[in-house]
Amino acid sequence: MPSKIVVGAQWGDEGKGKIIDILASRADLVVRAQGGNNAGHTVKSGDEVYKLHLIPSGILYEGTLCGIGCGVVIDPRGILEEIDGLQARGVSCKGLRIDPRAHLIMPWHILLDAMGERSLGKNKIGTTGRGIGPCYMDKAQRSGLRVYDLCTPELFRQKALAAGDQKNEIITRVYKQPPVDIDAVIEEYLRYGERLRPYVADVSVLTYEALQAGKEVLFEGAQGTLLDLDLGTYPYVTSSNPISGGVCTGVGIGPSMIGEVIGVAKAYTTRVGEGPFPTELTDALGDTIRNRGGEFGTTTGRPRRTGWFDAVIMRHAVRVNGLTSLALNKLDTLSGIGPLKICTAYRTPDGRTLRDFPPSLEELGGCEPVYEELPGFTGELSCCKSYEQLPAGCQEYVKRIEQLCGCRVSMAGVGPEREQNLER
Ligand code: GDP
Ligand code: IMO
Ligand code: MG
Repeated sequence: MPSKIVVGAQWGDEGKGKIIDILASRADLVVRAQGGNNAGHTVKSGDEVYKLHLIPSGILYEGTLCGIGCGVVIDPRGILEEIDGLQARGVSCKGLRIDPRAHLIMPWHILLDAMGERSLGKNKIGTTGRGIGPCYMDKAQRSGLRVYDLCTPELFRQKALAAGDQKNEIITRVYKQPPVDIDAVIEEYLRYGERLRPYVADVSVLTYEALQAGKEVLFEGAQGTLLDLDLGTYPYVTSSNPISGGVCTGVGIGPSMIGEVIGVAKAYTTRVGEGPFPTELTDALGDTIRNRGGEFGTTTGRPRRTGWFDAVIMRHAVRVNGLTSLALNKLDTLSGIGPLKICTAYRTPDGRTLRDFPPSLEELGGCEPVYEELPGFTGELSCCKSYEQLPAGCQEYVKRIEQLCGCRVSMAGVGPEREQNLER
């Protein structure tokens, strides 16, 4: 079955956009299955840099169909801005397809995201503020509005009035804030609906048909394994399932249709937002990695927290995603930093050694990383044209990562460009 899933193996921002862009040159269809415009996927092509949030990165190839599956949450204003921004740069969005079952982010979701974070104070999650959590809450509560509704004005009016009234109760009574003007929201959203209608199509059906016809299909993961609602560092997670299993429910295809699962990781670890991070470097070395790696959020611009490569996390990612290979990005950032540490296990306060990522923050909280050291490497990696040209110390680092994670590294990243990805 010629389908591939590309997932984030860490806390997001692993360079999925770059890998998708490389693989999309051969794909007929690229599909997103979860998340929303909390994602920020960077594709660099010559002097052009594209930052995609909701639209699959395959859109940059003329003629490639790009699907947004039922599991994605859509901010209509956000997606229209993205379409306009791409079209202004000469990128056609004619190939975009949006599943009518996908839920809509409404203005009250964005307000409730901000108010929820404020009320959590120092315990805040550090969300992207895009209304993701509140939208998925309504979906699970069965009170959400969907793309289908948006394209059916009478239905939308009725449902939005009911939902908006209910949210205004919370906004005014719980948070003591002024209510949302529901009529204005309805009029604004119906205008968006008019513009989005031509893109609406059943993405489950078109993905199934493409696979039946032997076409190449690529599933573009957003966020990362440790941000998964079920298998991540709960509650410091997003509200969807970024792991490979999320593709089946978020597109509407069965597991027998999946061929490969490629995990994307950085040669070190980063995280934006709050929550545990066992190998975090809060010293000058952490700053060096942040500055050299340009570790600032694509969506919010926040500085990313940085730390050593964590093989415990990666073994977790290999297991829960069923990874068939790894793409290891940003090796270039580590050049000249030595010795390099890799976390191989965690030590608990009572002296036990954990090889598997613990299921609770309480247990993780007391853990110390167990490190092994490698000499590291120097030199300008960004001009290497083949894997064999990488310094011996770098190849040794990659090999050790493979051994510790139990997964083959099939691609090594030495820069943000399409060409700076060395196949192995
Ligand atoms: P995504 O959310 O997983 O698509 O990743 P982001 O786009 O948010 O962040 C990854 C950043 O790293 C982007 O700025 C990419 O251009 C950049 N990048 C990707 N691979 C490499 C690499 O191998 N080396 C360097 N130096 N940068 C890379
Ligand atoms: P890509 O696809 C990194 C993080 C937020 C926060 C948590 C919850 O670019 O890798 P949310 O707004 O989803 O409710 O925030 O998840 N987060 C990401 N971190 N990359 C992302 O996407 C992220 N999307 C959400 O920072 O910690
Ligand atoms: Mg990103």
